[in-house]
Formats: sequence, structure tokens, C-alpha cells
Amino acid sequence: MRVEVVTLFPELIEQATSHSIVGRAQASGSLELHCINPRDFTSDRHRTVDDYPFGGGAGMVMKPEPVVAAIEAATGGDPTIPVLLTAPDGEPFTQALAQELASLPRLVFVCGHYEGIDERVRDGWITRAVSIGDYVLTGGELAALVMLDATVRLLPGVLGNESSAHEESFEGGVLEYPHYTRPAVFRERGIPEVLTSGHHANVAKWRRTQALVRTRARRPDLWEKLLPLSKADQKLLAAHDAQQAQDEATASNNEATASARAEQSVRVDEPVSNPV
Ligand code: ADE
Repeated sequence: MRVEVVTLFPELIEQATSHSIVGRAQASGSLELHCINPRDFTSDRHRTVDDYPFGGGAGMVMKPEPVVAAIEAATGGDPTIPVLLTAPDGEPFTQALAQELASLPRLVFVCGHYEGIDERVRDGWITRAVSIGDYVLTGGELAALVMLDATVRLLPGVLGNESSAHEESFEGGVLEYPHYTRPAVFRERGIPEVLTSGHHANVAKWRRTQALVRTRARRPDLWEKLLPLSKADQKLLAAHDAQQAQDEATASNNEATASARAEQSVRVDEPVSNPV
């Protein structure tokens, strides 16, 4: 996959992509990454890339000429290459969009800055604007890096273990199950017994159950989309809930017994007050 990033801060992108999995993806040829700086497409002495907004108001707007020249250099004029703008008012970035991007041979990110880019650039040269969340960053570089990272790890051969890209949060619309590694006891905390049972089917059931329970508890928005559950998932969840209800009943029973005992022992131990 070949990705061009149109950015006023190429060092930021180059630094952040030179390490770890994205760095290795470039070394192995799975990813070819280029940064293009709109400042290199200015012709004035100050290399101006922004200007005051028409109509007044706070902040600056990215001028159209250098950004469009940079986009055209990035696409080489090929209108089939998607051009994504990072913008807080864009469509939400999701795992599904990461998957879609990972299937493309080429892609251009345009990092917005200042108050935004001239609307005519959005109208004429941007395929889609994408947001990474409902908050405002100082610039689009971090947003582009987030999207690039989520996309690159899905490229074939980029992750060592092929299945780890598929077994995780949001794949199939559920959060991921909990993970544990050695030691089996850490600071008096153990691990779920089933994980050391060697019973693969039970491990798989436990993981699916945990994924469902976590999604239900933490992400009601995702949970809604999962409904109606398959018969198998309904069964797992019902078994989990029944077990939990039983555990809670046992716990509260134990608590009641313990406090009754404590009450009794206080009465027994109570000193008989001296009659005056
Ligand atoms: N630029 C500024 N804030 C952003 C956001 N939340 N997502 C994408 N681009 C942005």
C-alpha cells in the first residue's frame, strides 16, 4: 500500500512511523509512505500557507493554492486515489473504515491545521473528511497517524500472528476478552482456571462469554447492534448470568453468616457492666 501524507509537519509523521510495526511494514515493503509539505508549494518569500478568514473572526485558514498543489503532487492527478481530510467535523473513524482503507492500493491523508482548510478545497479535492473522536486536536497529524496505524496493522503480513488482527476488539462488533500471561499467580492474584485446563473448546467458550459480558457492560452502543444474539451466544450469556447470580447469593449468604457470628461474639464478649 502506498500512502501520501500532506502535512505542514512531515517530521512528526516520519518520526512516529519509523518505529515498531509501522516502521517494519515500511522496511518490508508492505507500506510505502511519503510526506508532502504544502509549504514547498508556496511562491512568496515567507512561504505563507495560511491567511485570515473572509468575514473576520478568530484563527487562520489554510490557503487553497499550496494545499491543492500538494494534493495534486500526491495523487499525480489520478482521480481514483481517495483523499482523506482529518477534521473534527468528519465522519467517525472506525475499525470498519480501517479495514476499508487497508484494502486500497493508494491513499492520501491531508492533515488540517489552524481553523481548517478553505472550504473550496474540501468541495473539490477531498473524497471524505474523517474524525478520530469528538475532541479538537491542534492539528491533523495525530489523527492521520492514528488512522494510518489502525490501517497498516491490517495489511497482509504486517502482524506476525495473522489471527491476532481478527480476534480483537471491534472485530465482529464485540470488545476483546481479557488476556493473561505467566506467572499464573502474581501478587496473590490468580487467573481463571479454565485457561490452564488445556480444554480448547472451553477456553473458546469462556473467551466468547467474556467478550459478550464486557461489551454489554462497557459499550451499550455496540451491544445494541449485536442484538438479537445467536442461540449459542444467548446460551453462553444465560449460563454466565446464572453463575453470577449464584455467586452473589453465596457471597451475601456468607456475609450474613459472618455478621451474625460477629454480632454473637460481641454479645458474648461484652463486659458485664458493673452495677454501681
Ligand atoms: N483535527 C482536529 N481535531 C481532529 C479530530 N478529532 N479528528 C480528526 N482530525 C482532527
